[in-house]
Amino acid sequence: MSADLSAPAPVRPPRENSFPEAEWRALARHWYPFAYSDELDAGKPVARTVLDEPLIAYRTAARQVVVARDLCIHRGVPLHLGWQEGDELVCAYHGFRYGPDGRCTRVPAQPGLAIPKKLCLSTIASVERHGIVWICLDPAPDAAPSIPHWPELDDPAYRMLHDPPPEWAVTPGRQLENFIDVGHFSWSHTGTFGNRDQPEVAPYEVRRTPGGLSVAYPYLAANPDATATGLAGAATVQRWMTYDLHLPLACRLSVEYEGGRRHCIFDAPVPVSRRRSRLFFFIARNYDHHVPAEDLLAWERKILAEDKPIVESQRPEDLPLDLTEEFHIRSDRFSAAFRDALRELGLGPAYTA
Ligand code: FES
Ligand SMILES: [Fe+2]
Repeated sequence: MSADLSAPAPVRPPRENSFPEAEWRALARHWYPFAYSDELDAGKPVARTVLDEPLIAYRTAARQVVVARDLCIHRGVPLHLGWQEGDELVCAYHGFRYGPDGRCTRVPAQPGLAIPKKLCLSTIASVERHGIVWICLDPAPDAAPSIPHWPELDDPAYRMLHDPPPEWAVTPGRQLENFIDVGHFSWSHTGTFGNRDQPEVAPYEVRRTPGGLSVAYPYLAANPDATATGLAGAATVQRWMTYDLHLPLACRLSVEYEGGRRHCIFDAPVPVSRRRSRLFFFIARNYDHHVPAEDLLAWERKILAEDKPIVESQRPEDLPLDLTEEFHIRSDRFSAAFRDALRELGLGPAYTA
């Protein structure tokens, strides 16, 4: 029996893979943010690692986004050492050029060479949605990309703001669980919105949704800086918070204040390697558009800085999906449901090491 030469090569973990293989395969089936759309608008490629796989992305003149493995197959040099010229990537070592379909278009040292089909970059599935370029290393054939539904990001009434995505020394499971943890505000966040006089966590329900989980939770927050809430003069402010978690690793938190003010916070940690994550953490709000972007981002950075040392110190680093491994209280229902859902998706070994 002969092999089907037209079939795509099976996706394999990269050489430098730091995950257990089954874990890598389970994670590789999902879609992750790779770059904010505006990061590609400068006409320079963006190179980043996802699941230990170095990737490169750029935008063509027709605004198409191209994502490929960051490797020139002539002599194994990363393409990010080269540059983008028009719609092509040029390798820094011998100047091979690659077009948007990945095919090599020119070999300068041998201009008459009939370029074989296999002299081609390994391109990666991508889709641009909500101002973000999403990628998937091992997409299900014929299935639509599973991207969270975040309509605020396409609504001109909302202003979306982001920093460059930082990297933290955490697993994405630990980081996302911290984002959905309603019990830590009054302890970790007393330098920003946490209200030490409000430590008790009222009972709440976790709802299953088609893409994940949802929780509504009210919180009487401290209000030391009216920049964040737009409600000057109040020592505390009522927040109506709704979390919509899109499995496995993306969540929108809608924070509503009186008067229809809505401030959404988005968190989508991307597994870079087994214990490193890149945080797509950004905001969109429908009010106070006169407040300088820098002031709003500085506030969010301050909140993240309160979380970072805590989350980076957690042991084990991996999120224990076996619920008997850590102690759960009533206020952890959301975390427990999140862990259950990750386990149902086939994740596990790297979270329970
Ligand atoms: S290694 Fe890229 S052109 Fe030679
Ligand atoms: Fe936090």
